[in-house]
Amino acid sequence: MRILVVILSCFFWVPLASAEKELHKSHQANSSTADTRILVVYPPEVKAYAFANMRRHLEALAEIMVAFSNAQYGQAADIADNKLGVDSHGATACRVHGDHSMPMLPISEGGHVEHHMAKLMPEGWWGLGQNMHVSANEFANKARDAAKNGGADITLASVALAKITQQCVACHSSYRMQ
Ligand code: HEC
Repeated sequence: MRILVVILSCFFWVPLASAEKELHKSHQANSSTADTRILVVYPPEVKAYAFANMRRHLEALAEIMVAFSNAQYGQAADIADNKLGVDSHGATACRVHGDHSMPMLPISEGGHVEHHMAKLMPEGWWGLGQNMHVSANEFANKARDAAKNGGADITLASVALAKITQQCVACHSSYRMQ
């Protein structure tokens, strides 16, 4: 009997040990996964503004989803246009990026923080930001269509809503600010 236990435990021990080894390997792989995101260095005021703007983006997205899930498609569309769309206040830095005619007063002398962010924003960031703002407007159009047909087919609007979040993810996996 004792021999049987020893033999059996040998059989079980080997796979267990190798499973543990695998786990250990995957831990090692995770800990050595380098953060490949590009660090964008903004001065403290610009960084604080950019983070606050991000939090507003998330709030807007939550509001859109609440309205949408309550079948208030027109309202979801308005929130998307007004809070995330290309003409929204939150899109100011992306909107004025590349406009070199802007007066660039220091922030301490009344300069606009959005203008400073626009100037320092990498080209790739701007492109991803624009994609996100445009996708919010595209969602708004599809949500208005859904409102018009009484919500009969909300599939296109749902797909467009998911696309907004994909644009957030695309930028988050490319850039970091700290
Ligand atoms: C063009 C780039 C870009 C886009 C688009 C973008 N973000 Fe961000 N966001 C960032 C970066 C960079 C950070 C900082 C991440 C870091 O340093 O780890 C960030 C941080 C955040 C944070 C953390 C805020 C805090 O105070 O800690 C939230 C929340 C957030 N983003 C939400 C969103 C949402 C929601 C969307 C889409 C609707 C979005 N972001 C779109 C670049 C972007």
